[in-house]
Amino acid sequence: MLLLKTAQRSKLDLADDALFYDQPRFVTHVDEGFIDQLTQLYRERLTPEMQVLDLMSSWVSHLPSEMSFARVEGHGLNADELAKNQRLDRYFVQNLNQNQALPYDDGSFDGVLITVSVQYLEQPEAIFAELHRILKPGGVVIVSYSNRMFYQKAIEVWRDGSEKSRVALVERYFENAGFDRIETIARVSSQPAMLQLFGFGASDPFYATIGYRGAA
Ligand SMILES: C[S@@+](CC[C@H](N)C(=O)[O-])C[C@H]1O[C@@H](n2cnc3c(N)ncnc32)[C@H](O)[C@@H]1O
Repeated sequence: MLLLKTAQRSKLDLADDALFYDQPRFVTHVDEGFIDQLTQLYRERLTPEMQVLDLMSSWVSHLPSEMSFARVEGHGLNADELAKNQRLDRYFVQNLNQNQALPYDDGSFDGVLITVSVQYLEQPEAIFAELHRILKPGGVVIVSYSNRMFYQKAIEVWRDGSEKSRVALVERYFENAGFDRIETIARVSSQPAMLQLFGFGASDPFYATIGYRGAA
């Protein structure tokens, strides 16, 4: 089912996304507190020797360094960034706004990760259906997000939404694709309350929505 109207998928920058990601960006897109929480979540929800796909990846994955996986595949829009990513066994470049079909057989992965990137998908319904298809029964998808974004490249419904409405949106993406046990972890600040009190509270909010593919 289509969840979004055409206008809700629109971006301020209408040029091909490939142009925007043409030059590599060797930066991190969220702060250390966010990344630490994400890595800890992976520790809790992934298990060693899983087959993992890091969709919309870059030069860093946030997988725990001590965990080993049977394979980690990566995908993104910039080959130079992906080539630098030490965690990836293989990677491919594909514009998901032009082609939503993922080049994998049904049931190829135990886990799929999308980190701080879901807001750039113009056809999320088709992508989440693909995630469900390529997951093994019992497999997990972890979509993490914050409030930072490349504003001109985020779709309208995300740009104009609140943190609360974005959670509801990502949960609907999962529900619509037939995922089970959908839950969201929301931590608005990773700073201790005492530090926030003295003005050191400007850390990136952490959100992760998790969905499982039901057993066969
Ligand atoms: C903010 S970066 C996040 C990268 C990485 N997940 C991380 O945690 O550092 C956004 C990523 O979204 C991906 N992306 C954006 N638009 C895309 C599109 N149209 N097709 C495929 N990937 C896209 C690019 O790979 C880009 O690196």
